[in-house]
Amino acid sequence: MSVEKNYLVTGANRGLGLEFTKQILQAGHNVYAACRNTNDIDDLNRFSAKFKDSLIIVKLDINDHDSILELNRNLRDVSIDVMINNAGIIGPLPYFENTFKQHYGTIDYDVWADVFKTNLFGPVKMAETFLDQIEKGQDKKMVFISSVVGSIADDHQKAFAYATSKTALNKSVALMADILKEREVKVLAMCPGYVKTRMNGGGANLEPKESIEGMLKQIEKLDLESSGSFVRYNGEKINW
Ligand SMILES: NC(=O)c1ccc[n+]([C@@H]2O[C@H](COP(=O)([O-])OP(=O)(O)OC[C@H]3O[C@@H](n4cnc5c(N)ncnc54)[C@H](OP(=O)(O)O)[C@@H]3O)[C@@H](O)[C@H]2O)c1
Repeated sequence: MSVEKNYLVTGANRGLGLEFTKQILQAGHNVYAACRNTNDIDDLNRFSAKFKDSLIIVKLDINDHDSILELNRNLRDVSIDVMINNAGIIGPLPYFENTFKQHYGTIDYDVWADVFKTNLFGPVKMAETFLDQIEKGQDKKMVFISSVVGSIADDHQKAFAYATSKTALNKSVALMADILKEREVKVLAMCPGYVKTRMNGGGANLEPKESIEGMLKQIEKLDLESSGSFVRYNGEKINW
């Protein structure tokens, strides 16, 4: 019999966060589904009737550290077994906007700062802020949705802002794994694969369902020994 757990998922209103929420609810667990704009959550609301006791929709803008602190105060008595830091942005790209704001020679440094704020500072601030609640949980897991694009060894996408934000996130995951080991908190960086969501302008080869099924298996397997690793949705190790 599976034990009911509490998950906190960021960016839960669409894309991978929505599919995480759906599959975790279907597995019988509770989800604190964090969304930036709680007025724009039609897809999430479709689960509300069926999962009225286990789906808790909460407001969170990870760019705004006061918003992170406020959510933390609201959930102060909740134990969190697994926190999934999923929310992220890719920034402007030629195939979306025909701009080259994160390409060498024409870099827009405000764009770079914005992408770091969301993809790096937000998730790390979440990890600092929610440590108490995670330590109260049985699983004590923090997951960070990164990308192979952040790998120095395995990928050479030329999008400076997005790629380096994930590289820096990976290094932060490795540091947190070391720091949090003695508190038995496990930390994992994952690449979901190239998944059909609004983030990538088409050409993706994976359905969210398959990506999330795979990532949930990897999260289940995560233990202190594997803490600090960087894996694909299917469990393959990714080189830093
Ligand atoms: N799809 C892929 O192929 C792929 C590949 C590698 C890695 N990833 C990573 O997977 C994660 C999810 O991506 P996705 O494909 O599901 O993208 P998506 O469909 O664009 O969804 C992104 C989610 O992040 C939320 N978000 C963005 N900025 C936020 C903020 N400041 N505060 C709170 N929420 C915020 C969005 O909320 P709003 O609706 O309010 O904008 C949305 O819910 C990201 O970290 C991404 O880098 C995706």
